[in-house]
Amino acid sequence: MTGMRVLLPDLPEFRALSHHDEGGVPGVTFDHYTRTHVPDGPADGMVLWMTGPQIRARLLATPGLKWVLTLTAGIDHVQGALPPGVALFNASRLHDRAVAVHALSGMLAAARGLHRFRDAQGRRHWDAPALPGDSALTTLDGANVVLWGYGHIGRNLEELLAPHGAHVRGIRSATPTDERDELLRAADWVVLLLPSTPDTRGVVNADTLALLKPGAWLVNVGRGNLIVTDDLVTALRDGSLGGAVLDVTDPEPLPEGHPLWTQPNVILTPHIASTTTDLVTRGAHLTRDFLIDLQQGHEPDGRVTAGRTY
Ligand code: GLV
Repeated sequence: MTGMRVLLPDLPEFRALSHHDEGGVPGVTFDHYTRTHVPDGPADGMVLWMTGPQIRARLLATPGLKWVLTLTAGIDHVQGALPPGVALFNASRLHDRAVAVHALSGMLAAARGLHRFRDAQGRRHWDAPALPGDSALTTLDGANVVLWGYGHIGRNLEELLAPHGAHVRGIRSATPTDERDELLRAADWVVLLLPSTPDTRGVVNADTLALLKPGAWLVNVGRGNLIVTDDLVTALRDGSLGGAVLDVTDPEPLPEGHPLWTQPNVILTPHIASTTTDLVTRGAHLTRDFLIDLQQGHEPDGRVTAGRTY
């Protein structure tokens, strides 16, 4: 394919794709959108990243669009808004490693009680007893870890967990409900790696939380709306859940005064599980490889097909 016009984010790493001598992509005309400006005229494709809903809606109304590459793993922000016939690609491979490392870090921090020692440090207290419902200090040796969603990130995390001696099991969309519930009953850790779809929203609710062993921990690096937040708060408060590592929440960001802010057995991060300092550079490289694949007539990685599962 030649003579493509492609819309890209207005970041220096993406502007460099126009410079052939800097490893750019010859034969493609680029235009750049900002948080407030969408270029006029038709385009063949666009790379969506770091856009808010309004600019995204305007971008997706671009005439002539054949494909959209979102440099995210999740696609919930695009799917409902994509014009018919436009091919959608995502970029899980850009995020696998960091998200898996983030989930593991949260688990290790929780197992070693770092959250409560850090809180005690703020109060200038030397010791920090275990919180009600939480276990004493542990390692992941022999722990049953259930990865709910077992795709790229799940396989990466499974590899990282292996040297820790954890027993890892995956739940996929094809896992029968009774088998899934059996896995949840045995879990010491449940890690949510699911996409947000109409089928997965609210899958962690009072009924699912009631299946978990007392003291089990929940890790969410998927999407906030996989969990019914009020049910989570109840399980955290009554001590039936050991705690939660949450990179995503519903609502997100949490409003002032939300009970999750002050829950001592919650480790919160602001949706940064996939962030690394070189993320934008890696995103631009992925974009270059993607465009070269298209130019050479190959289907790039990451095509999202209808009826997406996990
Ligand atoms: C981030 O949440 C992503 O989906 O990549």
